[in-house]
Amino acid sequence: MRPIASVHDIPLGEGRTFAVDGDMIAIFRLRDGSVRATSAVCPHKGGPLADGQIDLKQVICPLHLNAWDLRTGCSLSGQPDVAVYPVSIDDDKIMLGD
Ligand code: FES
Repeated sequence: MRPIASVHDIPLGEGRTFAVDGDMIAIFRLRDGSVRATSAVCPHKGGPLADGQIDLKQVICPLHLNAWDLRTGCSLSGQPDVAVYPVSIDDDKIMLGD
């Protein structure tokens, strides 16, 4: 587990992209204060998932409006699944990894 960012780097209800060991990871701060992490690259055609609309369950890619479950990475609209990563908050730091 390693610190990636401060929670204050991500406004509530939004996502941001971070480069981690050569991978682009989208970290989302849900409106209930919890966090989720997925690949930042949309599995459909490479759109920026961190710029998508989120609620407490899903992210909707801004390019073609396909949706993925933020907890499982499963597609909700018939596309390939997206990678998800374990992420948590420790004090005000966002921690990535188990
Ligand atoms: S690139 Fe994300 S839905 Fe098409």
